Amino acid sequence: YNVPSVRPKQLFDYIGQTAVREQLSLSMQAAKMRAEPLDHVLLYGPPGLGKTTLSNIIAQEMGVTLRQTSGPVIEKPGDLAAILTRLEPHDVLFVDEIHRLSPVVEEVLYPAMEDFQIDIIIGEGPAAQSVKIDLPPFTLVGATTRAGLLTSPLRDRFGLVQRLEFYSHAELCEIVQRSAHILGMESHFDGAMEIARRSRGTPRIANRLLRRVRDYAQVRGDGIISQEIANHALNLLEVDYLGLDKMDLRFLDALINKFGGGPVGIDSLSAAMGEERGTIEDVIEPFLVQQGFMIRTSRGRVATNLGYGHLGVEKDDVNE
Ligand code: ADE
Repeated sequence: YNVPSVRPKQLFDYIGQTAVREQLSLSMQAAKMRAEPLDHVLLYGPPGLGKTTLSNIIAQEMGVTLRQTSGPVIEKPGDLAAILTRLEPHDVLFVDEIHRLSPVVEEVLYPAMEDFQIDIIIGEGPAAQSVKIDLPPFTLVGATTRAGLLTSPLRDRFGLVQRLEFYSHAELCEIVQRSAHILGMESHFDGAMEIARRSRGTPRIANRLLRRVRDYAQVRGDGIISQEIANHALNLLEVDYLGLDKMDLRFLDALINKFGGGPVGIDSLSAAMGEERGTIEDVIEPFLVQQGFMIRTSRGRVATNLGYGHLGVEKDDVNE
């Protein structure tokens, strides 16, 4: 039994991120004409926008193998050396959460990226020797939630740096319709759009909500993803009409009702919510900022009028 994959496999099937798509397409075509590996690519942006999907597509379009790993998994320089020396020419090495590489591992990566060489130390003490090893030319695709988390020497070694943006409702609607089709579901435009509107600009969320709406449609409906079915299913999931989920609402509630709308520091918010700082910064805040519910200032986080309005709180109600 095979679970059908809703992930696009070619750039042609990848919806949205027009600028990223065009740049990658151009550079991949040029690299192929020169019979070179694609330059190293850094993809950054909030989780769920398609960084892993894009790295799969790059390998597929370049006709090479994708090797996948992540920053925290590579503990020692030797772990990275083992991965690099086993690559085939022009392979794509995808390193997720690349900002979490340890400094000693990062040191090994610099000459690997720049000259396709690594220096490894053999032996210990006075007998230790440094040996240069040539690597097959390869493409590093690094992914991170924020480019600012990378050290500048690492960031500077990527020839292509692409930021992924939140998707529009129209783009997400297209993604939902495509996924519904792959899952063998009939969907109405209004039903797909209802899911799109509530997906926080994020394909991963859209595809997750689609699966939950499918459950609902099959058990309580006629199996068709209509607007009414989508609406009922999503209300049950406590995703509100703008896509804010319970975490988002808990965050706005803390910011407005516990801290008088700010300015308040991220660590105070993190303690008040019992939520990790990284989760707040990478998962919750980017969408709330993009939607205009809050702003980040040098003095801390501040709720906007829109944020107050969404919670139904008058600005003067708090801190009286
Ligand atoms: N699934 C996840 N991201 C997608 C995208 N950008 N286009 C099409 N399907 C997707």
